[in-house]
Amino acid sequence: MKNIRPSMYKLHKQWLVKVTPKHRHSCSVSVPPTEDNKRPISSTEFKNKLATGPTFQDFIKNAPFKENATEVHEGRFEDTQSYLPDDPYIGNSRKVYFETYGCQMNVNDTEIAWSILQKKGYLRTSEPSQADVILLVTCSIREKAEQTIWNRLKHLTALKMRRSKVNAPLKIGILGCMAERLKTELLEREKLVDVLAGPDAYRDLPRLLALADGGQRASNVLLSLEETYADVMPVHHTPQGHSAYVSIMRGCDNMCSYCIVPFTRGRERSRPASSILEEIRILSDQGVKEVTLLGQNVNSYRDMSEEQFCGPEPVHLSRGFSTVYRARRGGLRFADLLDRVSQINPDMRVRFTSPHPKDFPDEVLQLIQERGNICKQIHLPAQSGSSRVLQAMRRGYTREAYLDLVANIRKIIPGVSLSSDFITGFCGETEEDHQQTLSLLREVRYNVGFLFAYSMRKKTHAFHRLQDDVPAEVKQRRLEELTTVFRGEAAKLNASLIGSTQLILVEGVSKRSAQELCGRNDGNLKVIFPDTHTVPIRPGDYVLVKITWASSQSLRGHVLSHTSLSSVGNTPSQAYQGEQLAVR
Ligand code: 5AD
Ligand code: SF4
Repeated sequence: MKNIRPSMYKLHKQWLVKVTPKHRHSCSVSVPPTEDNKRPISSTEFKNKLATGPTFQDFIKNAPFKENATEVHEGRFEDTQSYLPDDPYIGNSRKVYFETYGCQMNVNDTEIAWSILQKKGYLRTSEPSQADVILLVTCSIREKAEQTIWNRLKHLTALKMRRSKVNAPLKIGILGCMAERLKTELLEREKLVDVLAGPDAYRDLPRLLALADGGQRASNVLLSLEETYADVMPVHHTPQGHSAYVSIMRGCDNMCSYCIVPFTRGRERSRPASSILEEIRILSDQGVKEVTLLGQNVNSYRDMSEEQFCGPEPVHLSRGFSTVYRARRGGLRFADLLDRVSQINPDMRVRFTSPHPKDFPDEVLQLIQERGNICKQIHLPAQSGSSRVLQAMRRGYTREAYLDLVANIRKIIPGVSLSSDFITGFCGETEEDHQQTLSLLREVRYNVGFLFAYSMRKKTHAFHRLQDDVPAEVKQRRLEELTTVFRGEAAKLNASLIGSTQLILVEGVSKRSAQELCGRNDGNLKVIFPDTHTVPIRPGDYVLVKITWASSQSLRGHVLSHTSLSSVGNTPSQAYQGEQLAVR
C-alpha cells in the first residue's frame, strides 16, 4: 500500500474502484456490502463492475490535491504528488551547528553529514546559540582528543539545560570515531547526548534526529563493508573555497598495533572512481584550484568495480615491505586514479594524504614526477626510526627499507618535499630506539613533521599484547627532542629556498596582518608576502613569489607576477631559481 496516501487508502477500501495500471498491483480492492453483493460474486461480474464503476479519475476530480494532477496518455490523470505520508524525517528548517575535531577525514565526514541533512531541509548555522541541533564530529586517535570532547560536552549540556528552561530545546549529537568507540558510555552512563552516529551511519542521521525529537536517545554505530557515500556529494565548506578534500576510500586494514582507526572506521573500502572523478570535475567547474585525495591509506586504493579495466597484475609492495592483510589484486589502482584525476584540469593542483610507505611503486612516483599539476610532495609516515619498534608497531618495514624508499623517491622526484608522522614512547621504546628516530629525522630531512606522544588505546593489538611502559614524562621529553631536531632540519631545508622563486596558490589575507597575503607552495609550506595592491591578487590566483626569508614553518617573499599552473608546471622548489618575471 505504500503508493497510497492514508486518505485515499480509506476511499479505496470502502468503494469498488477502477485502478490505474500503476495502482492495480499495489492495492487490494474490496466490495462494499449492498443488497446485490451480499452473495459472493463471480469473477466475470466483478470485472463488469470494475468496468462500469467510477474511475480513478472520478476520485481525483474532487480530491483536494487536484492541482497536482497532470493529464497523461489516454485521457487518464496521474497524480504527480507523492502518495507517501509527509516525510517523517524532514528537518523543517531546524538549524544545525557542526563542530569538527581531529583529522581531515572528519572535515570530509562533516561535509557528507551536512549534505545529507541539507537535503532533508535542515539549515546550517555558524552560531551554537542559534542552533536547534549541535553535532560534534569526533576523533578517538589519542586520549587527549577524546578528553577535549568530554569537556566540550559538559559545556553543551549546561547550554541544553538553560535552553530547555526557556522552552527552546536543543539536541546534541556525537558523530564519528568516538560515537563508535564509546557508544555505551555516551548514551547510557553520561546521558549527555541525544544522537550517536558512527562513521558509516550518516545516512541514518535524519531518522536518528527525528527519534531524538520525539524524546528518545537514538544511535547507529554499525560499521559497513561497503559504505563509501559514493552517491552523496559532500558540501564543501572551506572559507575561500579554492581547495577541497575529496574522500577516495574509507577504513583501514593495516592494523598497526597502536592504532584505533581500523576499529572505529572499519575495513578498508574504495569509493568508485567514477564518483570521485565526477566530484572533482564539479569542483573544477566551481573554480576549485587544489584537490587533496583523502583516505587512511590512499595508495592502497582499489576500485574493484573497474576490474575489467586493468585486470589482475602482480602484487607490487615496495621493496622490503610486508602487510598483515593480503594486498588486493585487480581493479583500478591508485596510479590509475591519480592519472585520471590529474587530467581533469591542468590548472588544478593534486595532492593526496595519507599514504602508507608500503604502496609506492615506481609507477606512482614517475606519474608524480611527470605531471605538472601533481604536487612534488609526499607524506611518508615513518612512526619510528628503530626497526625493533617498527616491528612492535606492525608497520611492515624496517628502518633500512624505509630509507631505501626515501632514496628511490628522491631519485625519481628530485627536490620532492617529504613530511612524516612520528610517535614517541611506544611500548618498549628504549633510549637507543629513540636515538635512532632522531637520526632518521636528521638523515631524511623532512619539510613538515607531525609528532605525537604515544597514547594507549583500548581494543588495539598493543593494548592486548604490549606494555605501555614508557613514563609520561619520558614520552614528553622525547617528543620535545624530536621537535627540536625536526625544526632544526626543516629550518635548514627551508633556508635553502631563499632566493628561489616559488609558485604559490593564494589563500587570502594573512592571519597576522591585513597588509599581507598568504598561500602555499608546491611543498604545502605557508608563504607570506605583502599585498602591494599594484595588481589585484585574489584567493585562488597562482602567483610567483621570490623567497627572501625562511623559518622552520613558513617562508616570506615578494610577488613577481601572476601566472598559471599549466604554464609553469608544479615543479619542485628550486626550479625557478633566479628567474625574474615582471608583475602583470
Ligand atoms: N598514540 C599516538 N599517536 C598515534 N597516532 C595514531 N595512533 C596513535 C596513538 N595511539 C598517530 C600516528 C598516525 C597519526 C595520524 O596519528 O602517527 O600516523
Ligand atoms: Fe592507523 Fe596505521 Fe591505518 Fe594509519 S595506516 S590509520 S596508522 S592503522
